[in-house]
Amino acid sequence: MLQTLTERLFDDSDRSELDPFALFEEWFALAKEGELNDPNAMALATADADGMPDVRMVLLNGRDERGFVFFTNFESAKGRQLLANPKAAMLMHWKSLRRQVRVRGPVEVVSVEEADAYFGARPKGSQLASSASLQSRPLDSRETLVERVAELTEKVGENAVPRPAHWSGFRIVPLEIEFWKDGQFRLHDRVRFMRPERNAGWTSTRLYP
Ligand SMILES: Cc1cc2nc3c(=O)[nH]c(=O)nc-3n(C[C@H](O)[C@H](O)[C@H](O)COP(=O)(O)O)c2cc1C
Repeated sequence: MLQTLTERLFDDSDRSELDPFALFEEWFALAKEGELNDPNAMALATADADGMPDVRMVLLNGRDERGFVFFTNFESAKGRQLLANPKAAMLMHWKSLRRQVRVRGPVEVVSVEEADAYFGARPKGSQLASSASLQSRPLDSRETLVERVAELTEKVGENAVPRPAHWSGFRIVPLEIEFWKDGQFRLHDRVRFMRPERNAGWTSTRLYP
């Protein structure tokens, strides 16, 4: 009988041919079936100039063999932190599956074409809201935000909303990807894939839970 990639992952006989990106796809497909909201939600960890960790949720909105992409305001706290220290960790926890995936690696800015394509595909309301938001900066009242959106809506009219230059995406290029699956009596399964640099081959190790 054909094994799923997950069965091969935890079977211990031979993981050498396993591709963590393909495993991620297998898990993500299950999450999309099973999670009520935002199966693509991930915690994104960064560090500020003092090395103080910071974390918040973002949405995984692009992925391929190069890495994992999310979009944001580059003048936000996370944007500034990543531009100064382009390294991040991300965590996806799918509660109903009782599984998590951890990723760590350097971060790069996506191309203008990728940013335009994603921004252009968003609903106009979301484009206006993200253009009007000075993300992470103090806001005196909700009314100010609503007014900023209304002004921009009027200014744009029937035209397309231009992508703000400070709104784009970051790609986390994974050097580590860990798969964790809940087991009975806390005997969970963990396997970590590591590679020394992008495009290098992966090695994998089972870890104590
Ligand atoms: C489920 C969820 C998804 C979110 N997705 C995004 C996102 O894709 N991009 C983004 O900039 N903020 C997103 N946010 C808001 C961030 O968590 C955060 O409040 C905001 O980006 C400001 O973070 P910062 O001040 O650390 O930069 C999301 C929040 C939640 C709860």
